[in-house]
Amino acid sequence: MALKWWQRAVFYQIYPRSFADSNGDGIGDLDGITAHLDYLNDSTERSLGIDAIWLNPINPSPNKDWGYDVSDYCGIHPDFGDMASFDRLLKEAHRRGIRVIVDLVPNHTSDQHPWFIDSRGSKTNPKRDWYIWKSCAPGTMPNNWHSQFGGPAWKFDERTREHYLHLFLEEQPDLDYRNPAVVEALHDVIRFWLRRGADGYRIDVVAQMVKDAAFRDNPFRTERDPDIPWFEEGTQIPLHSTDQPEVHDVIRGFRRVADSFDDRVLVGETWPIEQERLADYLRPEELHLAFNFRFVLARYRASRFREAIATTHRTFGASAWPTWTLSNHDFSRHITRYSDHGDGEARARVATLMMLTLRGTPFIYYGEEIGMRDVRIPRERRCDPVGRDGCRTPMQWSGGPGGGFSTAASTWLPMGDAKAVNVADQLNDQSSMLSFYRRLIRLRRDASALAEGSFRLEADAPADCLVYHRESSAQHLIVALNFAVEPRKIRSASGRIVFDTNLARIGQQSGAALQLAGDEAVIVEV
Ligand code: NOJ
Repeated sequence: MALKWWQRAVFYQIYPRSFADSNGDGIGDLDGITAHLDYLNDSTERSLGIDAIWLNPINPSPNKDWGYDVSDYCGIHPDFGDMASFDRLLKEAHRRGIRVIVDLVPNHTSDQHPWFIDSRGSKTNPKRDWYIWKSCAPGTMPNNWHSQFGGPAWKFDERTREHYLHLFLEEQPDLDYRNPAVVEALHDVIRFWLRRGADGYRIDVVAQMVKDAAFRDNPFRTERDPDIPWFEEGTQIPLHSTDQPEVHDVIRGFRRVADSFDDRVLVGETWPIEQERLADYLRPEELHLAFNFRFVLARYRASRFREAIATTHRTFGASAWPTWTLSNHDFSRHITRYSDHGDGEARARVATLMMLTLRGTPFIYYGEEIGMRDVRIPRERRCDPVGRDGCRTPMQWSGGPGGGFSTAASTWLPMGDAKAVNVADQLNDQSSMLSFYRRLIRLRRDASALAEGSFRLEADAPADCLVYHRESSAQHLIVALNFAVEPRKIRSASGRIVFDTNLARIGQQSGAALQLAGDEAVIVEV
């Protein structure tokens, strides 16, 4: 069967506050993005060559959680422009063949959303039961649930002397998806942006939308989970606040709305309790794609990545289509993570070569294509309540004033080292990280084995290397990745080198055994 556009696409995530500032206020905006679409794809080899962008939230928001606390689902935050700027962005993107998906944050609203203002007004307000309110004895909580941002998930509200539920900040009250009026209201929101021409949604914390009907206490973790290192022993397992069977009904409803439009995509931000349950969200009537955070969580080790790939294939089965991602706005950038114990740039290239040659849809996080690193944010400049600013700093377009991001004297978050790492310098450097991304994305698009071929892990490889085959009817490629610092020899991969992480061996013949330098990866055509 022919693949869908979202199966072939390379997605590029844009954090709108940090991509490009068109009006000199120090904050990125929609017109800034539009002005840089040619950088993303102008259909020549000069551009990055991505196919679709995902915009983090652009709706009005008091920004307690930087857009993930929405106060108007059908508006544009004035920092980003207005509806006309959104329409322009969409039109210009589509003109270049770039699809645009927007962020939908259905689990919770801002406490400043008119729905919540009404809801907290009185116990008899018609919006009261749009949110989750509970009464309990003085000095107690309705149950033991923790907020994911720390502390109890319940906030006592003086006016009506009841608690409301917030799985994130107290300024982010959870909506009640057991109430059909809420479901209907969100369907209207989904229709709104699809009618305007958006190509789909990334849906925030999709597994959390429905809660246990009886609000039972959550249990605690008794052992450390090596895959989720920050879930220490003693952390709560969100058994009754995540992954409830009824959430799938809500998702099927969202999908029906999306399917009433042409060819749109729903990508879930999915953190099920067990990764094995990811496939449930990808059943034919549910999401098209679901984020797979295995690589974000994995340490830079062949064994870790091998396990991540195997688990993904096992979990997704034959019918669901995988996604791959190394970085996003919630985690330290991978080049920074990999720099702790080695050459971050070389390792980032190896990991990227892996991500872009696996079967599935890759998501690139803005700036990773030039090797942008986390920025250390001085205490007085911190914005995010839970410390994620370092990976959200302004795009480094040039080494000039304001990093080419803004003409303002000061930007909303400090700029990283734009003199050392920037787009302008890398565009003309044939061996830069940017050139590496541009050429690899192009190869992925043109090589049928990578775009649509089968995947098979090669058993005959050194323990600290990963070797796999991608095969279509027309082409057989072998991808060989060395995660060790020392050189390695791969017996099972001989042929013509079509790509390598240093862009130095393309066109060479590998010989009987393929030699890989430390932290080097190569694609060979058999
Ligand atoms: C996941 C988003 O990626 C994150 O940035 C946000 O804080 C939470 N969901 C809450 O909406």
